[in-house]
Amino acid sequence: MRERVERVEERMQQMVGSLSNEAVGDLFASLPHGKRLRAKMVLKIAGYLESSIKLAAVIELIHAASLLHDDVIDEAQTRRGEISLNASEGNRQAIMMGDILYSKGFEELTSFDRSIAAKIAHAVTLLSIGEMMDVRLSGSFNPDIESYLQMIYQKTAALIEATAAAAAMLAGKDEKIYGLYGKNLGIAFQIVDDILDVTQSSEKLGKPAMHDFEEGKTTLPYIYLYESLNEGDRDKLISMHGKKLDDAQKNWIRGLMETTESVQKAYLYARELGEEAIALMRGEEEEALAQIVEDMIEREF
Ligand code: FPP
Ligand code: MG
Repeated sequence: MRERVERVEERMQQMVGSLSNEAVGDLFASLPHGKRLRAKMVLKIAGYLESSIKLAAVIELIHAASLLHDDVIDEAQTRRGEISLNASEGNRQAIMMGDILYSKGFEELTSFDRSIAAKIAHAVTLLSIGEMMDVRLSGSFNPDIESYLQMIYQKTAALIEATAAAAAMLAGKDEKIYGLYGKNLGIAFQIVDDILDVTQSSEKLGKPAMHDFEEGKTTLPYIYLYESLNEGDRDKLISMHGKKLDDAQKNWIRGLMETTESVQKAYLYARELGEEAIALMRGEEEEALAQIVEDMIEREF
């Protein structure tokens, strides 16, 4: 599978190279590669065909664009352990690079069946709405689990759901089953991401640890923590929201998350969604796709 994902990488290079702009090519080459989860998923669902490599490349371009914009919005300094493009080149270049990758992805998407193109386009609308919801929810402490879940569905899972469904359509497989697999996987993925922010070191994450809460994000471990605290501790937690945390405050939060089992509860929630996704794929005899879920849940960064 390794060399197959490299074909997707080459296809992305080719798409960006066809724009014949040196600055764009250089900035694109400087971007760190991610896990390419979405590309691997397309290839595993739709097989190793020219059309699936192209679809995978389009999705990864759109995903890369969304992260460039996200880093501007979040004022991030790092992405995948390296200095982020907004930090090294400034917001204007990061926004324009995002626009270019996003538009090029859409240009290439028009060569697919209308139903596939519409599915992906709609998911990108949802992911943008999800990002806006994330920003708005970050304005104050949010103890509401339903709005958190809706936000992460839109921000992260909608594109993974559409990717899986579109790949199934390419392969003549059941788009509903594969779409639901992608949705469950995507929500579980974001919950695990939110847990790792609390449990892992900055070195391992490639970005500052416990930064979500400082950014104002009330993620699932914080919601469960809030639910199990007394009134005094709830007030103390809320008073720390959206501010830089010192080591004592981080230890206080981590310690209480331990005793109240808030991280475990959040993990269990992700696990259950993951198990549903695994069961769906076992029903289709798709062991490799079930394994993607296992690897994602067990990951450490
Ligand atoms: C990461 O969230 C962000 C996303 C998964 C989606 C962001 C979407 C947009 C900015 C809209 C995209 C618009 C276009 C035109 C493509 P995070 O901040 O929780 O994760 P992080 O820790 O990786 O930054
Ligand atoms: Mg971010």
